[in-house]
Amino acid sequence: MKGITGKGVFISGGCGDIGRAVAARFLEAGARVVLGDLLPERAGRAAAKRLSPTAARYVRCDVTSVPSVARALKQAIAFLGRIDVAISNAGTVTNQPFLAVTADAWQRTLDVNLTGSFNVAQQAARLMMKNPRRGRARRGVILFTGSWVQEMPWPHGASYCASKGGQLMLMKIIAQELAPHGITANIVAPGMVYAGLTKAIYDRDRRFAKLVDRTVPLLRMCSAEEVAGSFLHLASDDAAYVTGTSIVIDGGASLVRRE
Ligand SMILES: NC(=O)c1ccc[n+]([C@@H]2O[C@H](COP(=O)([O-])OP(=O)(O)OC[C@H]3O[C@@H](n4cnc5c(N)ncnc54)[C@H](O)[C@@H]3O)[C@@H](O)[C@H]2O)c1
Repeated sequence: MKGITGKGVFISGGCGDIGRAVAARFLEAGARVVLGDLLPERAGRAAAKRLSPTAARYVRCDVTSVPSVARALKQAIAFLGRIDVAISNAGTVTNQPFLAVTADAWQRTLDVNLTGSFNVAQQAARLMMKNPRRGRARRGVILFTGSWVQEMPWPHGASYCASKGGQLMLMKIIAQELAPHGITANIVAPGMVYAGLTKAIYDRDRRFAKLVDRTVPLLRMCSAEEVAGSFLHLASDDAAYVTGTSIVIDGGASLVRRE
């Protein structure tokens, strides 16, 4: 893919299932990658080393904290030289019926998924503004891991769907404001991925598993690897003119099945 070799990529939630698959795809294409996550240093360093002993690094990063994101991006620049691609991928989910949603779960979900995306995107964009602009080349690319539920209610998903809907609007604002500066912003919106918390819920909850199996027209969940390629595409030169949009990878889940 054109325009990826040598690029510096920061991925929040980079040690999770989707984060690692995305990192692996960028590394294969010749990028250098920093994973930001909550793991203790030793475990994080081991995760990065398994991906690539030379081209991947780990930095501890809590996306809900402005100073933590600032520290992590500073460390990332020390390794990468500059940040070309920032991926806000850290996420959390707590499914609760609306009448039972707790204030804590609501706040935590909004803090990680929405405010975390704001923190990563704003601070990365400020750094990207210092990247020199050559011709039509972009100064930087901001990507969010959204979700098909950013526009589609999912039962018991009040906090999660609201956070992902907020992320969608935030991405559009960033795309609109920063396009003249040569920074694009887009979302990769997976459907049900057999990864992370969805995998845990699918394995544990028969009712959830049946609902998923009935709802997805392709009749299966997606793998983390099937999501990763779209991040690479949006960061590549092939997508230089793409901004303010989402690639939805949901096996047709957004189509309403009527049988
Ligand atoms: N698994 C799915 O079906 C699915 C579907 C659509 C979207 N997504 C989104 O994909 C992204 C990654 O999810 P995943 O499925 O790989 O789950 P995961 O649990 O494997 O990964 C999430 C990662 O985020 C990290 N994280 C959580 N809070 C953080 C914080 N405050 N600061 C930094 N890192 C933090 C976790 O430590 C973890 O490594 C999330 O944004 C999620 O909403 C997942």
